[in-house]
Amino acid sequence: MAVLPIVLLPDPILRKRAEPVERVDDTIRQLMDDMLETMYDAPGIGLAAPQIGISKRIIVMDCSDDEVEAEPIGMINPEILTSGDDTCTIEEGCLSIPGHRGDVTRPASIEVRYLDRDGAVQERAFDGLLAICIQHEIDHLNGVLFIDYLSRLKRDMITRKMTKEFRMDRG
Ligand code: NI
Repeated sequence: MAVLPIVLLPDPILRKRAEPVERVDDTIRQLMDDMLETMYDAPGIGLAAPQIGISKRIIVMDCSDDEVEAEPIGMINPEILTSGDDTCTIEEGCLSIPGHRGDVTRPASIEVRYLDRDGAVQERAFDGLLAICIQHEIDHLNGVLFIDYLSRLKRDMITRKMTKEFRMDRG
């Protein structure tokens, strides 16, 4: 397994719609393992493939409290089938936008269809933090970031700061 570099805002790959995975094979499974290792190393609770520079529809999450009892979940080509009427607002962050956070309101429960690491179709209901995390990660596959839910003022401020840091990194 390998820890991979995380792509930061304003890298354009974060704004691209990612391509579906056509075949779940060992290369995809290896990629999911590397994504999980990168996520745990960061540390974070979710990661989408575009965040490591790969524009494919793959996400990984682990919203368990305890690192000793890890509960990694990987989803390939995830689709939200239904969203509950109740919403919840939590302060979100993103490994691609380090140092910035903001309140985002999303449906509190969802049903998701996805392929697991064996390529089997799964349909499962989620709520709590995991439901929020899955929605945040699926947004990444559609080029959407949590800052898109904030006020324009706050979004522009974060984008400006990140763009400045990005230029400084490159001298
Ligand atoms: Ni994110």
